[in-house]
Amino acid sequence: MENTPFVFGKLATQIDFTDREKETSQVVSNFKALVNTIILSPRRWGKTSLVKRVSEILGNEEPDLKICHIDLFNVRKEEDFYIALATEIIKATSTKWEERAQNAKEFLTRLLPRISFSPEDQSEISFGIGWEELKKNPDEILNLAETIAVERGLKIVVCIDEFQGISEFEDPLAFQRKLRSHWQRHTHVSYCLYGSKRHMLLEVFSNPSMPFYKFGDLIFLEKISTENWVEFISRRFSETGKKIREEESIIIAQLAENHSYYVQQLAQQSWLRTDSICSAAIVNKAHRGLIDQLSLLFINITESLSTTQLNLLKAILSGEKQLSSQSILQKYNLGTSGNILRLKQSLLTREIIDITADQIDLQDPIYKYWLKLEYFRI
Ligand SMILES: Nc1ncnc2c1ncn2[C@@H]1O[C@H](COP(=O)(O)OP(=O)(O)OP(=O)(O)O)[C@@H](O)[C@H]1O
Ligand SMILES: [Mg+2]
Repeated sequence: MENTPFVFGKLATQIDFTDREKETSQVVSNFKALVNTIILSPRRWGKTSLVKRVSEILGNEEPDLKICHIDLFNVRKEEDFYIALATEIIKATSTKWEERAQNAKEFLTRLLPRISFSPEDQSEISFGIGWEELKKNPDEILNLAETIAVERGLKIVVCIDEFQGISEFEDPLAFQRKLRSHWQRHTHVSYCLYGSKRHMLLEVFSNPSMPFYKFGDLIFLEKISTENWVEFISRRFSETGKKIREEESIIIAQLAENHSYYVQQLAQQSWLRTDSICSAAIVNKAHRGLIDQLSLLFINITESLSTTQLNLLKAILSGEKQLSSQSILQKYNLGTSGNILRLKQSLLTREIIDITADQIDLQDPIYKYWLKLEYFRI
């Protein structure tokens, strides 16, 4: 495939990364000052890209600050979490494999570490003691970053992506208590926890009865502004010898509702269809192509929803605000008003909708467009 100036589905770094100046400098200063940071946003707005960008910046600026990245995407069990944590901390704080082996032996003595290495630098750590033993005594791993930081005169930031994954663990609450009780004592290490499922994570970080209440600086990532997208899109077009006017860049941002992933995808599709100057017709064709490409997926999602869930989506997409009022309940066949809360909750859990300060919106702008205009024909 041709090399395009837009990226999606992988991280936006360096020249692909736009804006986020305010958030970038906030996270950079938090990391430098070892302030715990929590970043929340719906899917694909740019959390992971932001944290990677900050790591790039600090990697150059602060050699004694080590940043370690853990992704809970594939971590389903507490046991796997400890192994991932230990492995990534050891990796982030040692450059050569001899040093890794040395660190593992020195700092994880009681766990009888065994390390295997592969040529692609994928060191694997396993432990001589079993899970039952490890579960009783995870202290060494939970304090590992602090121990290494003190011994080696470093500062460490441990970044944990897809943090909502902890809800899959056997006892998420006990697990959170364990983390918090260890981590709050660390003075040379800070933690950056981030993920989607904003509602679940909001509960974790802002409910006073939860262990992670007031754990750190809570950042709600916002969408990148149209102005920024316009600047970015026209720059990337002109850098590759093509042109796009402000009007057409605005259409791209608007059709994608400024959603980072989709703006990039739509810009790319428009760019590919452009010989020299991108027209509104090209952008619309690209948008059509995108919808067609995703429609099978949208049909599957829609078929998996119940009739009342769909009725609620129809009411939302029709712009109704008083969802629990008698007339709306009747008009859209929503059952009793008690139903509404349950329906909203189920659509939230499935990440179909997002609720912010009294406003309900669909999370995926392309699905929203398809559902509204092609499925419901509103
Ligand atoms: N600052 C940015 N500048 C330009 N494009 C961006 C930026 N941030 C994100 N993107 C675009 O959005 C896509 C998704 O970004 P990213 O994976 O960082 O989001 P996320 O919030 O971590 O998503 P998820 O919730 O799926 O983990 C990227 O592939 C990129 O195309
Ligand atoms: Mg991510």
